[in-house]
Amino acid sequence: MGNKVEDFLYFQDLCLSYGYEEININLGCPFSLVTGRGLGAGLLDKPDELNNLLTNIFSVSKCSISLKTRLGNLDFDEFEKLIPIFNNFPILEIIIHPRIAKQMYGGEVNITKFKEYYTKLNAPVIYNGDIDNFIQYTNIKAQCSDIKGVMIGRGVLKRFKFIRQN
Ligand SMILES: Cc1cc2nc3c(=O)[nH]c(=O)nc-3n(C[C@H](O)[C@H](O)[C@H](O)COP(=O)(O)O)c2cc1C
Repeated sequence: MGNKVEDFLYFQDLCLSYGYEEININLGCPFSLVTGRGLGAGLLDKPDELNNLLTNIFSVSKCSISLKTRLGNLDFDEFEKLIPIFNNFPILEIIIHPRIAKQMYGGEVNITKFKEYYTKLNAPVIYNGDIDNFIQYTNIKAQCSDIKGVMIGRGVLKRFKFIRQN
């Protein structure tokens, strides 16, 4: 919910006060109220702004920094310009959800573009998107053998049984 180094410093102090030493910056949020203000995935089609933000953050960070990102805001090709920017910083890991923001959470994940881009990144990459079962997991691992791991969101929630404890 921020795109200024002051926002980061405020949040970093809060994290450190609770003992957290890693911060994940979410460049994937697709909601128009967020992207329209140049936040979340709204930074992905503004490489210069993103570069400035990361430069400022890494110059003051006392925490390890990881990123969560999509392949773009409006177009998959936006990621091409982001690769050299991301490679310029000591990012702990990058979680990639291979949709663009205008897809929200629907349509297809773009595995072709993911495969084209992820090996060009210096940071370890985590794949995220539409993994609901073991077969889908092994399919991704088979196609993208250099990923460090996967992140599963809705696939876990779909299987979760909410049990009320009395
Ligand atoms: C309703 C909703 C809210 C989400 N909120 C967040 C969030 O606050 N931070 C975040 O990093 N990702 C958020 N995500 C994205 C998920 O972390 C994940 O990237 C997305 O659901 C795709 O992975 P999946 O197909 O395994 O669910 C949200 C997703 C949904 C559907």
